[in-house]
Amino acid sequence: EKTAIGIAHSKVILIGEHAVVHGQPAIAIPFPLIGVETVIEYVPGTVKMDSTFYHGPLHHAPKELEGIVSCVEDSCEYLGIPYEDLLIRINSSVPPGKGLGSSASVAISVIRSLFNYCNKECSVEELLNLANVAETYAHGAPSGIDTLSITSDKPVWYEKEKPVDYIELGEDLHFIVADSGRIGDTRTSVESVANLLKAAPQRIHSKIERIGELTHHAKEALEKASKQILGQLLNEAQKELEALGVSDAGLNKLIRFAREEGALGAKLTGGGNGGCIIALAQNEVHSKQLAEKLRRFGAAAVWPFVLKK
Ligand code: MEV
Repeated sequence: EKTAIGIAHSKVILIGEHAVVHGQPAIAIPFPLIGVETVIEYVPGTVKMDSTFYHGPLHHAPKELEGIVSCVEDSCEYLGIPYEDLLIRINSSVPPGKGLGSSASVAISVIRSLFNYCNKECSVEELLNLANVAETYAHGAPSGIDTLSITSDKPVWYEKEKPVDYIELGEDLHFIVADSGRIGDTRTSVESVANLLKAAPQRIHSKIERIGELTHHAKEALEKASKQILGQLLNEAQKELEALGVSDAGLNKLIRFAREEGALGAKLTGGGNGGCIIALAQNEVHSKQLAEKLRRFGAAAVWPFVLKK
């Protein structure tokens, strides 16, 4: 019978998370080491899902999955196919709650698989429109940067409600993503920053603006191949994120260790309060050494990767 596949990689935010929710720019980079593959199969009856997180009919899916459920419903409606006779097998290597865009990766791969099932091409715009609904359930008030960066093979410069821009690197860069081992909840983190902003508007607003400034400098550093400067900017952004209350002891420990071991810069990535850090290594050899050291230091998972010019 009929089947179709849709794939999506994950993403990491280099700089600008949280500030991007409040109108500042952010830079995200595709993270090809992990991703999601969805296979759609024609199976008569109600729409069913088969995945590590849920197995069964979609109309009985737990509340945490309402984003992806509505994404499937909306995509079927958009594509003009009945919301029935489908088995959706989702195979994800993106750990949830680690700031790697797991919910957006799942949504994008599911939408792509449904378009393929109908033999239709999908534009980035269609992908984003359909995926952002799922993200709103998952994150509350998402900026849209996760879905966007997951559809891109290049680093993206993102500001809410502005046309997206892609960044041309001046040099290859070696990064390491390391998992603190704790689950973070992006929705809660985003809400906590919003609450702080209400409680102390001036103080918090200036931190958000400062992150925006650092992000502008980071774009320049990326384009001009100034990785030493880029590293310092990442470190400064981490200071502001700490002041926003979204870093925690586990992340801080990994970040400090990475810097002591020669990282040019290190910060949390994504929602924070659990989840992952991103560190900028000096070069390829250093990246491998640092990855090994972080592993031995106790990171739950470590992914060294190169971002090609
Ligand atoms: C999550 O990867 C990034 C945040 O800025 C939230 C968002 O932009 O939707 C924390």
